[in-house]
Amino acid sequence: MVGRITPELKDQLLARTDIVEVVGLRVPLRKAGALFKACCPFHTEKTPSFVVTPARQTYHCFGCGAHGNAIDFLIEFDRLSFPEAVEELAQRAGMPLPEAGDAPRGPDPKPLYALLEQAASLYRQALREHPERAAAVAYLERRGLSGEIVQRYGLGLAPPGWSFLLDALGKSAEQCERLVAAGLLSERDGRRYDRFRGRIMFPIRDRRGRVVGFGGRVLDDGEPKYLNSPETPVFVKGRELYGLYESQQALRNPPRLLLVEGYMDVIALSQFGIDYAVAALGTAATPEHIKRLLRGAPEVVFCFDGDKAGRDAAWKALKTALPLATGQQPLRFLFLPEGEDPDTLVRKEGQAAFEARLANGKLLSAFLFEHAGASHDVAAPEGRAGLADEVRGLLAGMPAGSYRDQLAGELARRIGEPVPRGGAMPRRAAARPAAAAVPSLSPLRRAIALLLDDPGRAALVADKPADWRELDNPGVRLLAEVLDIARAYPGITSASLVERWRGTEDERTVRRLADARLIELIPEAGRGEELAAIVDRLNKDVAAERRAAEIQRRWRERGVARGDADA
Ligand code: UTP
Ligand code: MN
Repeated sequence: MVGRITPELKDQLLARTDIVEVVGLRVPLRKAGALFKACCPFHTEKTPSFVVTPARQTYHCFGCGAHGNAIDFLIEFDRLSFPEAVEELAQRAGMPLPEAGDAPRGPDPKPLYALLEQAASLYRQALREHPERAAAVAYLERRGLSGEIVQRYGLGLAPPGWSFLLDALGKSAEQCERLVAAGLLSERDGRRYDRFRGRIMFPIRDRRGRVVGFGGRVLDDGEPKYLNSPETPVFVKGRELYGLYESQQALRNPPRLLLVEGYMDVIALSQFGIDYAVAALGTAATPEHIKRLLRGAPEVVFCFDGDKAGRDAAWKALKTALPLATGQQPLRFLFLPEGEDPDTLVRKEGQAAFEARLANGKLLSAFLFEHAGASHDVAAPEGRAGLADEVRGLLAGMPAGSYRDQLAGELARRIGEPVPRGGAMPRRAAARPAAAAVPSLSPLRRAIALLLDDPGRAALVADKPADWRELDNPGVRLLAEVLDIARAYPGITSASLVERWRGTEDERTVRRLADARLIELIPEAGRGEELAAIVDRLNKDVAAERRAAEIQRRWRERGVARGDADA
């Protein structure tokens, strides 16, 4: 996990990043003078109004108003979280980031990773050499696992007995503490013992291949069938996907990612040539999981049992996925025949037949209307209203765009309402301020916009008089902040300057003012002058105010002197 991301770190990161490369890898850019152009990836258009400006290190769409720096682009386009976007750029730039554990808060997680790796190695060794390995080997054979697949997924054996790991790794009190922290030992009545005993061990690796936890399966029908590592500083279940690392090792560009339920499903599919299955760790898919899936392949298929429980789980996954669904990557739902899971099914029918099922998985839209429609009778007004309310509630959480518009249109058709033109939901473009808003910008805001557009213009603002700073106005405070940062960091790009406000109260304001459409009405050559003139004007206003106050004060004094102050 990434530690604290300071403004300096973001500055360095953005300085080492070329936004043209970052965007260019995802959107075909065409050079046009000092700029690069493309059709906007954030809204549908035929003529390119999306511009990447190397000098500013930003992108702007003059159509829909989308804009930002390389971090914003990854957040919007790859749908990464902010720390993920930073991680991604750091990796590209070959720049080390502080680990969360380096922060003064929690203890250093490195020894935990080391212990987990050692445990995985001991479990693997036990599967090969331990005197009590026979039952485990027979079990794996009965499940049809090949030696090769056992090796690829690093399966091992936690032998029966209370102290296999404890004896091997618990050499000191400190080590024992760590084994507990890593979730490998349990504690009861002050005694410590191996958490995993007499189980087939499935190491869970994070995206970088580090072992972060284990699932352990009993060899018979004991309970619980699977025992899993608890959450630890290095193992957060809502974030990890079992098999993702192994899949990425096998396939650089998987055609899709398939989310299944079980460890055994992932492994069996892989053994049958389907190397793109992953499993959530005994929990429902989280938004974090879905982001990872969408990031990993052009298409995502969720696989569920065909029974009622499977349908309910699928509906839950759909609701989690909707806020992340842009329609640019198909999301499908596959329901298996009763009594089958991917493990049993792929063994029965083989790779080709299974993959044919995947290709025919229900699209999100189909499952949405099928499931929502099942509980409302659209032959009656009551049913139509119920369906409308339910579906609109779901769509409200979706990102604005053509996909949401299409789903809204589909709803309208189903309930017999006229299909709204241009989509039933406000487009993101409409929600953004347009260029026409410029004349209505206060001079202060225009000054801030001009600085954000090109921080180098800070040099054009006279240092003295700086009377304007005395004005008691939130815009003045922000202008002063922008100007001070631009001056303190000569050469700072627009991208880095705007980045300073991420996560602050003023972020929205700053982002709005960084919309390139706001200043495009001012001719390029006149922009510096305009900024200087605005500050000059503010100074004069302050001076005039001072004079007026002074005159008033004198009048009041004279009035008091004449004794008619309260007349
Ligand atoms: P399943 O019961 O479907 O098991 O649980 P499976 O993966 O098909 O395993 P086999 O084929 O019986 O060996 C699916 C997943 O739910 C979690 C595990 O992650 C498992 O892979 N689970 C299940 C547990 O964590 N604990 C349990 O007791 C059962
Ligand atoms: Mn199974």
